[in-house]
Amino acid sequence: MQKNKKYSKVVAVIGLGYVGLPLAIRTVEKGYKVFGFDLDKKKIQAIQKGQSPFKEEFIEKRKSLLSKINASSDPTVLQKADIVIVCVPTPVDEKFYPIFKPLISAVELIIKNKKAGQLIVIESTINPGVCEEVLMPLFQKAKLIEGKDYFLAHCPERINPGKDAISHGYNVSNIARVIGASSKKGLLWAKNFYQSIIDAPIKAMGSIKEAEACKVVENSFRDINIAFVNELAKSFAKMDIDVKNVIEGAATKPFAFMAHYPSRGVGGHCIPVDPYYLIERAKQNGFDHKFLRSAREINNSMPAYTVELMHDLLNELKLPIKSTAVGVMGLSYKANVDDLRESPAVKIIEELENKGARVIRFDPFIPSMSDAKNLEDFLKKSTAIIFVTNHKVFSAIKPQTFKKFGIRAIVDGVNSLDKEKIKKLGIKYRGIGRR
Ligand SMILES: NC(=O)c1ccc[n+]([C@@H]2O[C@H](COP(=O)([O-])OP(=O)(O)OC[C@H]3O[C@@H](n4cnc5c(N)ncnc54)[C@H](O)[C@@H]3O)[C@@H](O)[C@H]2O)c1
Repeated sequence: MQKNKKYSKVVAVIGLGYVGLPLAIRTVEKGYKVFGFDLDKKKIQAIQKGQSPFKEEFIEKRKSLLSKINASSDPTVLQKADIVIVCVPTPVDEKFYPIFKPLISAVELIIKNKKAGQLIVIESTINPGVCEEVLMPLFQKAKLIEGKDYFLAHCPERINPGKDAISHGYNVSNIARVIGASSKKGLLWAKNFYQSIIDAPIKAMGSIKEAEACKVVENSFRDINIAFVNELAKSFAKMDIDVKNVIEGAATKPFAFMAHYPSRGVGGHCIPVDPYYLIERAKQNGFDHKFLRSAREINNSMPAYTVELMHDLLNELKLPIKSTAVGVMGLSYKANVDDLRESPAVKIIEELENKGARVIRFDPFIPSMSDAKNLEDFLKKSTAIIFVTNHKVFSAIKPQTFKKFGIRAIVDGVNSLDKEKIKKLGIKYRGIGRR
């Protein structure tokens, strides 16, 4: 930790979710006194007892530090902090408009429980302009002056929570960051703070807007690339070309190609959400992000496309989709976690139910939403399967096991199974862009 007295030692984190909790732990680990504030009392109680409210490898490995966070649902703890970091959700509504309510309410709590000269850092994902156009007016209304009464900075988080392996060993402690701030002093303070907790470069941006833009660009880049391969999957399926093999082939080019893979759709709090923040903000300036809108449409269409593939297979088997037992294998949006946010499984289930299928849901990470006791029970109950989440336990299933339990058709929504072996066993198979 910074030894220089200039750099304060008391930090408060608002929002102890997938982003805020690892950050609070890391800040404790680096020697700061940390207050954690969240409206969710159950979460606070769990953390106070030294338990993580969700499964996360970074937290699991540092479980002993949980009880060292002064976790509270009392916002007056914010008065004790020199640095307040905001990690509350920034979702979209059913029409895909950004919802700023949690962010605004967190900043209002900071203002109500203010300590003079605090550094306030927004880590939540936001579009360019939010800090200056949405948040700073709240301070102005309270007659607080930036650079004197408070310092405002934005340092978007980049972690991919869950297992370290998913994020190639990167976590809150070692991912490079960008920072923008409204004043030089705020920028220097924020940069020094992040340098003291993160073992990676911290890049100071020219403005707070530039830092806000970095994050939406990063996630839009991913959304667009995934949309491209999802579109290829639909096109190549009609030409009987295996898109996965093609991408693996193209990826042998050592430069200027980056492999992305098609699937049953994107999920989570970031990729299917953040591009809308940019789309909506640009619209206010009279700019239409056609490319990005189109990517969103393609990726949003994938769950329905996946169900159509199942419909086709059942037709080939002369089975009606109505009342056929279709197993949905995996509910969370990514492998080996229990996170359901924006999961394509939800839309797949909706589509299947609309078509009258008898849906059997199963996810060992989410037993409360499963219709089967265990994998064996799930396979027994299902006639056909849509493979939605690439949990290790699912990708390890041998093709013979599907046969043993009488599975007649599989839609491999994550292109993870051995299609040749499955087809040899007489099971109908479709992947996303492979047959
Ligand atoms: N999850 C990710 O993979 C990820 C990665 C990078 C960035 N982000 C961004 O980080 C932000 C937080 O995401 P998350 O995944 O941690 O969300 P989360 O839902 O897991 O956690 C947010 C927490 O904030 C609390 N909260 C909501 N409003 C509050 C308020 N007014 N005061 C105090 N607490 C409040 C909630 O109770 C919850 O515990 C979002 O903007 C998200 O886009 C998320």
